[in-house]
Amino acid sequence: MGSFKWINLFIIIFYCFLTATPIISDSNTIPNFLDLAKEPQVFDWMVDIRRKIHENPELCYEEFETSKLIRAKLDELDIPYKHPVAVTGVVGYIGTGLPPFVALRADMDALLMQELVEWEHKSKVPGKMHACGHDAHVSMLLGAAKILKDHEKDLQGTVVLVFQPAEEGCGGAKKIVDAGVLQNVSAIFGLHVLNNLPLGEVASRSGPQFAGSGFFEAIISGRGGHAAIPQHSIDPILAASNVILSLQHIISREADPLDSQVLTVAKFHGGGAFNVIPDSVTIGGTFRSFSRESFTRMKHRIEQVITGQAAVQRCNATVSFLEEEKPLIPPTVNNGDLHHYFQSVAKSLLGADKVKGMEPMMGSEDFALYQEALPGYIFFLGMEDVSVEHLPTGHSSYFKVNEDVLPYGAALHASLAAKYLAKLHQELPVVEVKYHDEL
Ligand SMILES: *[C@@H]1O[C@H](CO)[C@@H](O)[C@H](O)[C@H]1NC(C)=O
Ligand SMILES: *[C@@H]1O[C@H](CO)[C@@H](O)[C@H](O)[C@H]1NC(C)=O
Repeated sequence: MGSFKWINLFIIIFYCFLTATPIISDSNTIPNFLDLAKEPQVFDWMVDIRRKIHENPELCYEEFETSKLIRAKLDELDIPYKHPVAVTGVVGYIGTGLPPFVALRADMDALLMQELVEWEHKSKVPGKMHACGHDAHVSMLLGAAKILKDHEKDLQGTVVLVFQPAEEGCGGAKKIVDAGVLQNVSAIFGLHVLNNLPLGEVASRSGPQFAGSGFFEAIISGRGGHAAIPQHSIDPILAASNVILSLQHIISREADPLDSQVLTVAKFHGGGAFNVIPDSVTIGGTFRSFSRESFTRMKHRIEQVITGQAAVQRCNATVSFLEEEKPLIPPTVNNGDLHHYFQSVAKSLLGADKVKGMEPMMGSEDFALYQEALPGYIFFLGMEDVSVEHLPTGHSSYFKVNEDVLPYGAALHASLAAKYLAKLHQELPVVEVKYHDEL
């Protein structure tokens, strides 16, 4: 009996030693990434990358030069990667090459709009612009790669760097998931710069952050004819008008008033003359919601209401949700456990007063497509310095990035990944099992 107790005590001490070791080594080996990211050789390197990408904006699945630049920088850092993933995407790897895996995501694409900011590194492509900060997102993820690579030996697993094409309405995230590169990945983190949040602050929430978003288009067909002899025609203008009014009742009469939703008909094309009833009318619009259930229900009812109401007016209707060109984006819902984890990492890096909460937004983010496949978390990173200027919102022709934000993004990415691997490593039951066998 006596010796049995001694063995038990030995096992307990041994396990304490095993579980305590990583805790001690984590705090010693995970550096202050913010200090590192602010050093000129990292900061200037990120600024240079961001300006190069800004000068040459590329749209959905056309990010060839951006992709080439990312690969050149990964080569420079001696970081292995897969390419092409999702047409122009690049997926890099830092660490042991073994599980656990944690992913960081940056989107790469620009917008179809003209830059109106006059500065040295203005877009060189007429009608295209990085007006949503994706140039900064890529540069920050490369910055994170650079500082993580310098501490690769301390990583307790593998960081997966996801450079994703086609965020702006083309669902690039879906193609990344479908490529299988996120298999076995435990969690994915993403960030978005925000114009009106102070520099160095972050804002986010647990649960729904962005709405799900879909588009629809319907052709309502009647029979054209002389506007003065309506009895010989079937008027699609009147039918489409009734359809639009009926669509507005879906939310006002069928949705829970506490479950925010939007349905907007933004497009109405039909007719051209004052005295001719046209053959058909095309309408189109968008619908948004924060829950998957209401999103699915709205989609179903949009189709039903359009065809049903058109039939009342003796018209036929076809409805398309344009899923090929504009994939449906589900609601972006932040994982609750990752929210707590994010807050603790961000508070220790930035200070507790810099970590803010946030209301959900009706915009959408294709980051949601990752969250369908694995636990995911996205947050906003502030870049406003009111002592310098107020920054215009994303998707404005006057959009500007305050480049002082770059080290914050790089450091948050690096800290979230490195600490998450350390956390997973501690939680893995394999430690106990493995050493048990040896005993
Ligand atoms: C994920 O893990 C399984 C089982 O270990 C393995 O067969 C598979 O190849 C892994 N996938 C990737 C993308 O690493
Ligand atoms: C609607 O479709 C039916 C069946 O194809 C057809 O017979 C009818 O003429 C169509 N009506 C109009 C107004 O296009």
